[in-house]
Amino acid sequence: MEYEVIIPAAGSGTRMGAGKNKLFIELNGRPIILHTLDVFAADRDCSKMIAVIQPKEEKIFKEMTAGREYEGKLEFVYGGAERQHSVYNGLTAVSGEIVLVHDGARPFIRRPVIRQLVREAARSGAAIAAVPVKDTIKKAVRQEVVETIDRSSLWQIQTPQAFRLSILQKAHEWAKAEDYLGTDEASLVEKMGDIPVKIIESDYDNMKITTPEDLYFARAVLEKRTHLNG
Ligand code: CTP
Ligand code: MG
Repeated sequence: MEYEVIIPAAGSGTRMGAGKNKLFIELNGRPIILHTLDVFAADRDCSKMIAVIQPKEEKIFKEMTAGREYEGKLEFVYGGAERQHSVYNGLTAVSGEIVLVHDGARPFIRRPVIRQLVREAARSGAAIAAVPVKDTIKKAVRQEVVETIDRSSLWQIQTPQAFRLSILQKAHEWAKAEDYLGTDEASLVEKMGDIPVKIIESDYDNMKITTPEDLYFARAVLEKRTHLNG
């Protein structure tokens, strides 16, 4: 089933501290963002990739992707100050029925998860990738434990997050009108309250590259895949 994907890539990578957009850091000799784009480029069900970028980085992105066979299905849109604003801008370029939002900083997403998300979004309206929480989670006030939260009901939320376009558009318009800033797309849909958000179990490899130590893990994932896939 066909879908379009918005890929927010307009951040600055502050927590990575690399002095540049972390998406330009290379893994196996290629920038992180190209690894991410490759997954969707190779997926025939993906009809459009909308990369949301900073205007000052347009030249770098265009040079990086020039001449690739997927150039035709790649579009660039300018981002905003917050990730949510970037996604909002990306929405202006979407025309299909199903839209995914996937962080440029998650290069290890795999097609089976994407397929399940698309199917579930078409069926029920909203579906997000997640993994079960592994650690014990406690709530604390001033470093004193208040409560241990039952882990069996907790999920660590990732992207992609998949939606029927009309639902995501409505949620973003609502958030804009209310000046509400969420940490992911689904939280906007949840706030509106009329559509259930379904969870699709993903895998721990689909990490977001955020801080320097994440690069070690990312390199290990790539190495594992090279050995497994030849
Ligand atoms: N992003 C974006 N527009 C923003 C902020 C973030 O498109 N205004 C993108 C990032 O490029 C990244 C994704 O959203 O692919 C997830 O954000 P995050 O991991 O927080 O990346 P950064 O914002 O770049 O990192 P930091 O928060 O450490 O500065
Ligand atoms: Mg950020």
